[in-house]
Amino acid sequence: MKIVWQEDPEYVSYVEDLLETQEVQKLGEFVQHRHSTRLEHSISVSYNSYKLAKRFNGDAKACARAGLLHDLFYYDWRTTKFDEGTHAYVHPRIACKNAEKLTELNDMEKDIIVKHMFGATIAPPRYKESYIVTMVDKYCAVKEASLPMSERIKHRWNTTFRKKQSA
Ligand SMILES: [Fe+2]
Ligand SMILES: [Fe+2]
Repeated sequence: MKIVWQEDPEYVSYVEDLLETQEVQKLGEFVQHRHSTRLEHSISVSYNSYKLAKRFNGDAKACARAGLLHDLFYYDWRTTKFDEGTHAYVHPRIACKNAEKLTELNDMEKDIIVKHMFGATIAPPRYKESYIVTMVDKYCAVKEASLPMSERIKHRWNTTFRKKQSA
């Protein structure tokens, strides 16, 4: 998935105030899905959700902002355990509380963040935009976790194909 979000002025106008904050930049210190930082993952979810929302006449701004903040937490999810419930249940609530300290969230943005683990959690999203973000989140997670493998396959394919062409 090629990220060209910096070249999309509308997208940048929706998220630049958030991207400038220390709280969002700090996400770059955490590994999220094996080969991505939490910041890279959050931007990827945010930008791809924004694009899908535009395509399906959804609220692109809400998807961009809430997508960027959906994993706004600061612990290693592989090792940290909670008495209140699983990581899938707890971290969207932590992210929502942290996000509310950064910016005012409307009902849709709160729903997007709190329900982004739908599938692993039971409560269904209330908005089309929440479904977009939860689907994009899963897609990005798989993509980021398997990135080097897909790059290796692509490389092997290209070298084999080129050898055959030049033979
Ligand atoms: Fe998450
Ligand atoms: Fe995520």
